[in-house]
Amino acid sequence: MYGLNGRNAIVTGAAHGIGKEIATRLLKEGCAVGLLDFDADGLAATAAALSALGKVSHAACDVSSKEAVETGVAKVTADLGAIDILVNNAGICKVGKLLECEESVWRATFGVNVDGIFHMVRAVAPAMVARGEGSIVNIASWMGKSGVAAYGAYCASKFAAVSLTQSLACELGESGVRVNAVGPGLIVDTKMRDESEVLRKQQGLPSAFDRAQSIPLRRPGVPADISNAVLFLVSDQASYITGETISVTGGLWND
Ligand SMILES: NC(=O)c1ccc[n+]([C@@H]2O[C@H](COP(=O)([O-])OP(=O)(O)OC[C@H]3O[C@@H](n4cnc5c(N)ncnc54)[C@H](O)[C@@H]3O)[C@@H](O)[C@H]2O)c1
Repeated sequence: MYGLNGRNAIVTGAAHGIGKEIATRLLKEGCAVGLLDFDADGLAATAAALSALGKVSHAACDVSSKEAVETGVAKVTADLGAIDILVNNAGICKVGKLLECEESVWRATFGVNVDGIFHMVRAVAPAMVARGEGSIVNIASWMGKSGVAAYGAYCASKFAAVSLTQSLACELGESGVRVNAVGPGLIVDTKMRDESEVLRKQQGLPSAFDRAQSIPLRRPGVPADISNAVLFLVSDQASYITGETISVTGGLWND
């Protein structure tokens, strides 16, 4: 449907949630997919399950580490060949007010959500530039367009992801490499959402399903809502789109 057959992709944070769904959809479209994730056991289980759908390579890798990224990308590139598609999906989200946020939490959030994109792009994009083609999608958040209470570190990191998307699009456009982002809203059926809901409950904040009542489309999103947008953006159907962050939120833009 998206004309992706035969392309090689890397998805970070592919062991669980949205990343796993994106990898699944890319495989079903005929891509070979390299899966990177920090959670080695979860990654091995996901790689084993997804290998029934097509060619899969995997490498346990902390995207906040330049060395780990270079090793992981080298491994999956050796297995699959030149990479056409990069989806920077790995992310963490800690709930808490900025004035109470531990510096370690701030740094870890930026380490994964911002440094992770920086390291991955610098490991993968030079070969795309040399070949004159490629597509990168960063998974940002609706909180990368709107600062909200109790998510200050996360919001700042996702604004950075949106900004990196725009700057990279400007820098790589003339070489034929496109860079876009997707900004998910409230997405259920993921590990991050489950952990977030526990923390929100502890802090007396409303649940995802309560909050979904104020979303214009009146439901929380699911990982497939995000993979639909990613597949479009990496495909040639989006060949004149770069530097864009598409919100996939059911209409939610403020909490
Ligand atoms: N679920 C939501 O409501 C929601 C909303 C907006 C944005 N997002 C974004 O979507 C992306 C995926 O989130 P999800 O909801 O599927 O969460 P998830 O926790 O289910 O998946 C995140 C994956 O990233 C991996 N990961 C975490 N730290 C890593 C690291 N240092 N190196 C490599 N991998 C690492 C995890 O092991 C996990 O497999 C994230 O970037 C998140 O910020 C999610």
